[in-house]
Amino acid sequence: MALRGGEREQRPLPGKLLPYGRERLPQLGGLGYWFAREAWGRGYATESSRAMLELGFRRLGFHRVWGKCDELNAQSARVMEKLGLRYEGTLREHVWLRDHFRSSRIYGMLAGEYGRPPAQG
Ligand SMILES: CC(C)(COP(=O)(O)OP(=O)(O)OC[C@H]1O[C@@H](n2cnc3c(N)ncnc32)[C@H](O)[C@@H]1OP(=O)(O)O)[C@@H](O)C(=O)NCCC(=O)NCCS
Repeated sequence: MALRGGEREQRPLPGKLLPYGRERLPQLGGLGYWFAREAWGRGYATESSRAMLELGFRRLGFHRVWGKCDELNAQSARVMEKLGLRYEGTLREHVWLRDHFRSSRIYGMLAGEYGRPPAQG
């Protein structure tokens, strides 16, 4: 995948944007991303994920797109907030990492919310 526009034209993404995972219902999509450390903070995750939202909602007819991140992963949470996904809650201590449990923040967007200004509150 290549980002379009300006200096980014034709350059491969310095990381991975996970394609929508296959869910039990075909109208549900999970969003994920990973970028090389030297590429962080340049808007790549937000820009490429925006393209995935457009694809999911406008082309593939998705009903819901969601993502999750470790509760300490502020960058990832920020990306989902910038995309307009709503914080839906925290899955408490459901992941075992080496020697302790970790919690995840869940974000989601429904088709009817795509392209609308974020709800207040
Ligand atoms: C998470 C990740 C994909 C973000 O990629 P990115 O291209 O740097 O993201 P963007 O530049 O689009 O946006 C990052 C936002 O986080 C903000 N941010 C960075 N560090 C932050 C911190 N410590 N606290 C809060 N926000 C932070 C940036 O300022 C930016 O927001 P802004 O545009 O409002 O300033 C990247 O850090 C990464 O690959 N991390 C390792 C893998 C990972 O954690 N993937 C997600 C798994 S859930």
